[in-house]
Amino acid sequence: MSPDSTDDLSSSEGDFAESFDLADGRHLEVRRTTTKDASLIWGFYEGMTALDRRRRFFGAFRPDLDWCRGWADVGSRGGFGVIAIVRDEGNDAVEVAGEAGYALRSDGDGDLAVTVAQQWRGWLGAYLVDVLVRHAPIDGIENLQADVLLENGPMLATLQNRGPVALDHDDGVVRLSIGTAATPTWPKRDQRRRVLVEIAGGRWSGERQANEAGLATAVCSGPTRLGRRGCPVLKGEHCPLADDADAIIVLLDPDDEQTALMIESHLRMSPGVPVLARRARDRSEGEALDGRDAGMPEGCVEVESPPAHAVQQILSLVGKREPDASPQVYA
Ligand SMILES: CC(C)(COP(=O)(O)OP(=O)(O)OC[C@H]1O[C@@H](n2cnc3c(N)ncnc32)[C@H](O)[C@@H]1OP(=O)(O)O)[C@@H](O)C(=O)NCCC(=O)NCCS
Repeated sequence: MSPDSTDDLSSSEGDFAESFDLADGRHLEVRRTTTKDASLIWGFYEGMTALDRRRRFFGAFRPDLDWCRGWADVGSRGGFGVIAIVRDEGNDAVEVAGEAGYALRSDGDGDLAVTVAQQWRGWLGAYLVDVLVRHAPIDGIENLQADVLLENGPMLATLQNRGPVALDHDDGVVRLSIGTAATPTWPKRDQRRRVLVEIAGGRWSGERQANEAGLATAVCSGPTRLGRRGCPVLKGEHCPLADDADAIIVLLDPDDEQTALMIESHLRMSPGVPVLARRARDRSEGEALDGRDAGMPEGCVEVESPPAHAVQQILSLVGKREPDASPQVYA
C-alpha cells in the first residue's frame, strides 16, 4: 500500500517515455521518474525479497519515503531515473515492473542501480540499463559504474554483456564500469595515475596495494570477456583506457598469440606508455615458440612478482614519465 495518497501515476511527466504492447493486451510504460513517483518506488521496494534487498542495498536497509523521493528526483541533481509501469487496457497502472537510475559521481561518471520485479525478469533489466546508457551521454556521462555483490550473478551477467572493467574490489563487492559510447574510459575527474591491467577473470592481486599507493586501476578481463563490442585493440582500433593510461600491465596468457598481438598493439598505439608483461613459460627457458622470438617483445618490460614489487615497479616507471602534454585528460 502506498503511504502517500498525494502521489499519482501520471504518464506525462518528464522528458523520456517508451512503451511496449504486451502479449496479454497490457502495456509496459517506461518513463522518467519525478518526486511524484516516491510512493510507487517505496511500495515496490517494500515488496522485495530479503535477497533482492541485500543485492540492491547491500544489507537490510529499507528505504523510507524520503529516501525514495530523493531517488525519484535524482534527475534534478545531474542524474537520471526511470520507472517501468504496467498498464491495463483502460490505461490504469497495475504494477511497477522495475526501476533504474544513475546518480552523478564526483569523479564525473554515473552511479548505476537497477531493480526488476521477479515476475518481469529475463530482459527488462538489460533494457533498463540500455535506457540509462542511451541517456547518459546527454548528461555528459561517459561511464556508468555499479557496485555489485560478487554473488549477484544476474547483475554481473547484465553488465558483463556490456564489456565492463573492474575499478575496485572490496569485501565481496566489485565496482564495475561500463562505457556509454563504446569501451569504458577513465573517470574524467579522477586525477590519480592510471594503470590498465589485463588479466583473465578481471581480478588482479596487486589492485589493493596499487590503490593504496595512490594509483587508479582499471582491470579488463581481456578479449574473450569483453561482451558484444569486443576488444578495440584487437580490431586495430584505439582503446581509451590504454590511450590514457600511465602504464599497462598485460597478465593474459603469455603463450597465447592474441596476447602477443595485444602487447604489440599497445606498444604501437600508446607510444611512451610503459607496457609490462609476463615472459612466456617456453620463452623463459630460451626455447623458440613456433619459430617466434623467444625474448620479451622489444620495448616491453617484464613485470615483477609478487604484486607488491610490481606496484613499486609501476610507481618507479610512471614517476619517471614527463607530465602529459595533453590537458584534456583531466577535465
Ligand atoms: C539484476 C536484475 C535487475 C536483472 O534483471 P533481468 O535482466 O530482468 O533478469 P535476470 O535477473 O534474469 O538476469 C538476466 C541475466 O542474468 C543471468 N542470470 C540469471 N540468474 C543467474 C544466476 N543465478 N547466476 C548467473 N547469471 C544469472 C541471465 O542468464 C541473464 O543473462 P543474459 O542476459 O546474459 O542471458 C534483477 O535480477 C534484479 O532486480 N535483482 C535484484 C536487485 C539487484 O540485484 N540490483 C542490482 C544492484 S547493482
